[in-house]
Amino acid sequence: MIAKVRKAVFPAAGLGTRFLPATKAQPKEMLPLVDKPLIQYGVEEAMHSGVQNIIIVTGRGKSAIEDHFDVSFELENLLESRGKKDLLAQVRGISDMIDVSYVRQKEALGLGHAVLRAKELIGAEPFVVVLSDDVIDAEVPATRQLLDIYEYFGAPVVALMEVPRENISAYGVVDAEPVPHNGAKGRLFRIHNMVEKPKPSDAPSNLAIIGRYVLTAEVFASIEAVPPGSLGEIQLTDGLKHLLRSRPIYGYKFEGKRYDAGDKLGFLQATVEFALKRYDLGKPFREYLKSLQI
Ligand code: G1P
Repeated sequence: MIAKVRKAVFPAAGLGTRFLPATKAQPKEMLPLVDKPLIQYGVEEAMHSGVQNIIIVTGRGKSAIEDHFDVSFELENLLESRGKKDLLAQVRGISDMIDVSYVRQKEALGLGHAVLRAKELIGAEPFVVVLSDDVIDAEVPATRQLLDIYEYFGAPVVALMEVPRENISAYGVVDAEPVPHNGAKGRLFRIHNMVEKPKPSDAPSNLAIIGRYVLTAEVFASIEAVPPGSLGEIQLTDGLKHLLRSRPIYGYKFEGKRYDAGDKLGFLQATVEFALKRYDLGKPFREYLKSLQI
């Protein structure tokens, strides 16, 4: 029997240096895309994929994240007394639907190190990792797409996307072979090797890992076994590469559009496209954009 995935880990202890000065006193996970903080997009994706147990790995200066997912009595009372039912439902919805726990990462020693901090809370269960910088707009939530593969094979699955060679050094990159699978239409791969942030000349392919992973608990021992890698950090990619020695790992080229919201241009692109899709903002915003002489 393949165990059901109930838990999702959200690493959120990074320093957000790419967004300074906005992130000096505010976590980057709280930067709003239109009117929702980045991390909420990821949390809603997990929720809509059937994963309700959320584990956020935080660090110093991240208390706004905890407040965001907590109940705000003052705010709820105010909205109630003013009859703002829609806003009240929105504010309540997120804290009602999920169960959040927090674990601290005292030092930002890398993504692998962050994931390892969730070891005790995960126990022996399979789990999802969501990097909230990677915002994915998809008909079927990207996490759900990966879970469908996991539920078939019972093996770890990472999200993949083709990226231009000149950008490849920003990613974990896989050496992988396509695997035929019902309905996967060339999207499923068996991974043979992976490398974190290779030089373009060393990259084994143009298939990059994007921030969605379904992992099994063996990954913790693998992360513990690897030395610091790229940037002197404990890398999740290195842990997965170690796990490949004993376990098949799959990659899935998800359907949907991914925005790198940890990057200023990517963040702006997501903001514009999400605003255009909004029922309440789309029309006037489109008219405004059209009126610009660009
Ligand atoms: C992390 C991972 C990398 C992955 C990327 C996806 O890198 O280490 O393997 O390709 O997320 O966004 P970061 O963006 O934190 O440097």
